[in-house]
Amino acid sequence: MIINQKENIVLPSLPLLMYTNINIADATSKEGDNFSVFVGLDKEKVIQLKALSLDESDIEIQKNTSDRKRFGLGKYEDWYKKNRTPFVLVQKNTNKLAAIIWFGPKSLDEIKEDFHASAWRAYPEFRGKGLMKEFGKFAMNIYASKIPNVKFSAVIKKENAGSIGFAQAIGFNDAQKTLPDGSVIMIR
Ligand SMILES: CC(C)(COP(=O)(O)OP(=O)(O)OC[C@H]1O[C@@H](n2cnc3c(N)ncnc32)[C@H](O)[C@@H]1OP(=O)(O)O)[C@@H](O)C(=O)NCCC(=O)NCCS
Repeated sequence: MIINQKENIVLPSLPLLMYTNINIADATSKEGDNFSVFVGLDKEKVIQLKALSLDESDIEIQKNTSDRKRFGLGKYEDWYKKNRTPFVLVQKNTNKLAAIIWFGPKSLDEIKEDFHASAWRAYPEFRGKGLMKEFGKFAMNIYASKIPNVKFSAVIKKENAGSIGFAQAIGFNDAQKTLPDGSVIMIR
């Protein structure tokens, strides 16, 4: 996927105010599909995020993430207040939420330094299509440009080979630690 950052956009400090979203880039997939990249979700995207998180037919989301509890049963607003900054990829002609990547400060007992947690999801129609690598690198670069010297962490279930491979593809190192529940911590 090719991502073209919009010119002359000066991002305010992150996170943005609740429901504010700024279109920071346009993107085109290998298949020629057009997308927009936003920082932040407006209310309509929050509704999509909730529905996608409750989607029981999406086995990967249900098995590998807590999004059902986080966004489906819980409130996006409560999550956002924890200083989370979401980046989203939206298919232009349908306005569908294709993928989300978020970051935010989170201390981990297992790692003494300050890290910002990172998380990523591509939704079923858009998964495995080569959209995520460039989107992931782009979102991290923008976030790092606003939070100098930021270090990223990701907690991933050890059986989630796709997410571990993805983390490696965007520059995370091999697992640093294994948590009691079997998840691994990767850092970048
Ligand atoms: C993890 C996830 C975001 C990756 O998205 P994706 O659409 O597969 O990503 P892409 O097609 O853009 O692939 C990007 C890279 O990820 C890596 N990757 C993807 N699937 C992989 C797999 N099954 N095994 C190993 N590496 C994999 C590859 O390096 C790939 O690059 P390549 O195709 O050039 O080799 C996606 O699988 C997903 O949303 N899974 C469900 C939710 C989830 O588990 N989120 C993470 C919770 S910790």
